Amino acid sequence: MTHYDIVRVEPSDHALVRSWLDAQQAAHEHDTPHQRPWNPMRPLSSLVTSSADGRNEQWAAVVDGRVLGSLSLSLSDLDNTHLAGFDLSVRPGERRRGVGSALLRHAEQRAAEEGRDTMSVWLAAPGPGDPTVGEVGSVFAVGKGFKRSLECAVRVCDLDAVDEDALDRLWEDAWTRAEGFEVVAFVGAPPEDLVDGMAYLHARMYTDMPLGEWDLQEAVVDRDRLLDWERRRRLRGELHLQVAVRHKESGAVAGFTEIIVEGGEERHCVQGDTIVDPRFRGHRLGTILKIANQRRVREWRPRMRYVWTGNAVSNEHMISINEAVGYRISCLENVYQKKLA
Ligand SMILES: CC(C)(COP(=O)(O)OP(=O)(O)OC[C@H]1O[C@@H](n2cnc3c(N)ncnc32)[C@H](O)[C@@H]1OP(=O)(O)O)[C@@H](O)C(=O)NCCC(=O)NCCS
Repeated sequence: MTHYDIVRVEPSDHALVRSWLDAQQAAHEHDTPHQRPWNPMRPLSSLVTSSADGRNEQWAAVVDGRVLGSLSLSLSDLDNTHLAGFDLSVRPGERRRGVGSALLRHAEQRAAEEGRDTMSVWLAAPGPGDPTVGEVGSVFAVGKGFKRSLECAVRVCDLDAVDEDALDRLWEDAWTRAEGFEVVAFVGAPPEDLVDGMAYLHARMYTDMPLGEWDLQEAVVDRDRLLDWERRRRLRGELHLQVAVRHKESGAVAGFTEIIVEGGEERHCVQGDTIVDPRFRGHRLGTILKIANQRRVREWRPRMRYVWTGNAVSNEHMISINEAVGYRISCLENVYQKKLA
């Protein structure tokens, strides 16, 4: 049995940071070889940035300076203070020796010390468009008392394969139902007159999307928090393409959507949140938002090819819009949750 220590990853320990990144990349490529490529920017920046709304702790199981496995713990401080989110992986060649169990024990201990009673983790699983995804994460988690709490599916849009004429028709048709609205496109922080409306809709994302049994609770999102998110995106080198629709008469933000291009990534990007305020649903605004922002991707990044997204499998409206604009199913991705005793 290998002896290893579980240590906090210090950004000044460059050799440890390199090994920590390498271990995560190896696990990602082993378990999800055909999913969005692993990108170091998010873990790297989490070591050196902080925010007012929560904390990220990075831990590693280490022997002789070599990282065997890693644990990332997210502790929200403004809302959802009952929850500890985490991500954990072990190098493919170091599995079935108890490292994953030790890291999970550590996560549960830290969560309990922080007064959290719920742990949750997103786990990929094979799906119709990508049977190569490993299932070991779910087997491991269930063995540790986690329950599947929300079922989601990952879809990918190949921008080369999109039928642009069909999209034109969809766009024209959607606007026949959307009189009185206008599109506002922006990058990074929203225009000043949209900030409060955007913050309101970001908060609604926490409660409006289907959550299954996942105990995610209402969020506190105000303009300061929203602008802090944008500040952190800049630190991570992300391009944040957003489109909002405004209700012209009232000036209200009726909905928004976002696409994130991570630092250094030229082929794969991420479709993030999309929401239409319940007051303004039924005007094809979801379709308008999606088409408008998708078409901006190549204006900004002409070589970009794949846009990835995830939806709860029960979210039929969003899924039918996604399919119509070119997304096709890949793997599954589910939330597993455990209530600590
Ligand atoms: C899941 C993962 C973290 C497990 O790490 P590990 O160091 O191999 O875990 P452990 O050795 O502590 O395994 C504990 C138990 O989990 C179960 N388990 C782990 N891997 C398994 C596998 N391939 N098949 C079946 N059961 C498995 C077994 O019950 C195992 O106990 P045993 O070896 O005594 O039979 C690792 O496989 C991994 O990094 N997977 C990819 C990332 C991921 O899915 N992370 C999510 C974790 S919640």
